[in-house]
Amino acid sequence: MKISKKPAEDISHWKKLEGKRTLLRPLERRDLRRSLLWLTDPIINKYLSQNFKDLTEEQEEKWFSYIQDSEADIVFAILEKDSSDHIGNCSLNKIDHRNGKCELGIVIGDKDHWNKGFGSDAVDTLVSFAVKDLEIPTIRLNVYVYNKRAIKVYKKCGFKLIKVLKKDHLYNGKYWDTLIMEYDPRLFQDDPQ
Ligand SMILES: CC(C)(COP(=O)(O)OP(=O)(O)OC[C@H]1O[C@@H](n2cnc3c(N)ncnc32)[C@H](O)[C@@H]1OP(=O)(O)O)[C@@H](O)C(=O)NCCC(=O)NCCS
Repeated sequence: MKISKKPAEDISHWKKLEGKRTLLRPLERRDLRRSLLWLTDPIINKYLSQNFKDLTEEQEEKWFSYIQDSEADIVFAILEKDSSDHIGNCSLNKIDHRNGKCELGIVIGDKDHWNKGFGSDAVDTLVSFAVKDLEIPTIRLNVYVYNKRAIKVYKKCGFKLIKVLKKDHLYNGKYWDTLIMEYDPRLFQDDPQ
């Protein structure tokens, strides 16, 4: 059975997703201030597909209202399971039930939590939700070639490189490749890797 985001009752199906080390719950208004600090942090910002450097509270509030009504976007707060601390956000965007595809995004905003397995756990949990609950088999994402940590996470979680956009992204005075990665078990079932 497909779970669409609307009507509101359907949301109860995915109120909280449980991973091994993280819990994912729908993003709430009270999470916005912390999220804004993460998105505008230059160390984080250099990895993100949109430039949020100058994002304002008003713009973020507008975006939050938009996603509440959007049937094509689901945004989760990532909580550390043991402490319930809010350590990041992740999302499924451009959800297209007709063609069974969507895009994935993630930020572990609290840098003290990097390299401790939380990102991989949240991606695994989100992928499982997309594939099993939403019945969306194809999940795609963009990642800059210099984001070695994220590439490692996506590979660990079953994403494969499907395309390289050469010299696609200007950062620090230099053009860098953007990698398009995809999770789709149907495409790779014969792949020994
Ligand atoms: C990318 C991100 C989500 C990963 O989350 P995380 O919790 O730090 O990741 P994990 O701890 O689960 O895994 C990180 C892996 O990368 C490895 N790693 C870290 N730095 C690395 C590097 N420079 N080169 C290669 N691998 C690296 C770690 O060793 C670990 O692999 P392992 O589990 O096999 O040891 C998080 O760091 C983040 O939010 N970064 C900033 C925003 C961002 O890049 N978002 C993604 C945009 S596409």
